[in-house]
Amino acid sequence: MQLDNRKLVLGVTGSIAAYKACELLRLFVKGGADVYVAETEAACRLVAPATFEALSGHKVSTEIFNEASDIGHIELSAHADLIVIAPASAQTIAKLAAGMADNMLTATVLAAPCRTVIAPAMNSRMYLNPATQANLETLRKRGFIIISPEEGELACGTQGVGRMRPVEDIYNIVCALLNPREGIAFAGFGQYLPSPEAPLSLAQTRLLPKAQGAGLKVVITAGPTEEPIDPVRVITNKSSGKMGYALAEAARAAGADVTLISGPTHLPCPQGVKRINVRSAADMLNAVKDQVTDAQVVIGCAAVSDYRLAYVYDKKITKDETGDSLTLTLIKNEDIISYVGHLEKRPFTVGFAAETDHAEEHAKEKLTRKNLDLIVLNDVSRQDIGFNSDDNAVSVFDRDGKVADLDKAPKSVIASRLVDLIFEAVRKGA
Ligand code: PMT
Repeated sequence: MQLDNRKLVLGVTGSIAAYKACELLRLFVKGGADVYVAETEAACRLVAPATFEALSGHKVSTEIFNEASDIGHIELSAHADLIVIAPASAQTIAKLAAGMADNMLTATVLAAPCRTVIAPAMNSRMYLNPATQANLETLRKRGFIIISPEEGELACGTQGVGRMRPVEDIYNIVCALLNPREGIAFAGFGQYLPSPEAPLSLAQTRLLPKAQGAGLKVVITAGPTEEPIDPVRVITNKSSGKMGYALAEAARAAGADVTLISGPTHLPCPQGVKRINVRSAADMLNAVKDQVTDAQVVIGCAAVSDYRLAYVYDKKITKDETGDSLTLTLIKNEDIISYVGHLEKRPFTVGFAAETDHAEEHAKEKLTRKNLDLIVLNDVSRQDIGFNSDDNAVSVFDRDGKVADLDKAPKSVIASRLVDLIFEAVRKGA
């Protein structure tokens, strides 16, 4: 089960959505987790502790100095993998942002060696109030994971944003946070991740999924490039950008500071990732040159055009002018990843090799010629993986030979595994 051997603290605060915490608790328990509930005083008025005790099998913690309680605020989170506050009221959010410890729940969070997930639930005016928004931003910057509420009918009878996300969503996000290596897709959860500036102090790192990216600046190229022929025509290729964007999301999820240099795609920028949009290979090279100076890792996933037009027409080419045939002269573009690989002060450099034949041989030759640390071989003769597909399957090589074969899986899963391999190699000082 996805939460086997996991210990969670479920914080419940005084929001009408408190009753939904019973269902969330049931899902956590069904998923295999051992769950301890901490309720605020206001929450106890909405759902009696006895209900949570029956569902969790543990005494509910309510007050810091409660003789009846068998567990104190330090112990409550001491062995927890995650604290989940659902619903989180405006009041509790404000207290957490101020670092208060005036009840069992806030004291537990302040003393926690693990991360805290917050699912706000309140009236929309309270949620949208700049004070609440500023408090949430403060918490996000500190490393809290915020599960934004959704729009809908609210308990007060009005419509608006402020309704707690469905408990199934919260459950899935918690599973994804706790199982980053099992391939539970992180895609789509990006917006809930803490900000890149979040301090990675001991108190906040324990649960950071794949925190091995913390403190690293990672530059990733993605998508196709476009080489203009005239004002309306370009030379391009079939890259969708999906693989590069998945890598950016995975590196970000692992705590890295990620800059994505993207050719033209239709993909949204993953949350927390800085994107620089480019069109031609020359633009991409310039952007990489700007970004590489303080990067520790560069990953060249873009399908960069090897050639550009020797001469770009400034007016649309017409058939009247060209007749039955048109000859275009192409000249070689500079190789971007090779430029990075040959820098005197070079980052850890990862290239891709998109091959249709003699794949391994070509990939190894590119690894050496471009002076790379790792190369990711993609068999692009297959229709079910590679270019413009949701899945991929790759082999990874370093200078000593094959490092890994990653079987066909969604690009988010492949990206997550690649990021693991890359950060592990970087940390080992490869
Ligand atoms: O974008 P998707 O639809 O998700 O598809 C993903 C992908 C198939 C594009 C991706 O997985 C991939 O294989 N990218 C590399 C594509 C490529 O251009 O491969 P290549 O073998 O031609 O180039 C080798 C390496 O040199 C690559 O890292 C490439 O980014 C780099 N290169 C190439 C030419 C150039 N002028 N500059 C470069 O940096």
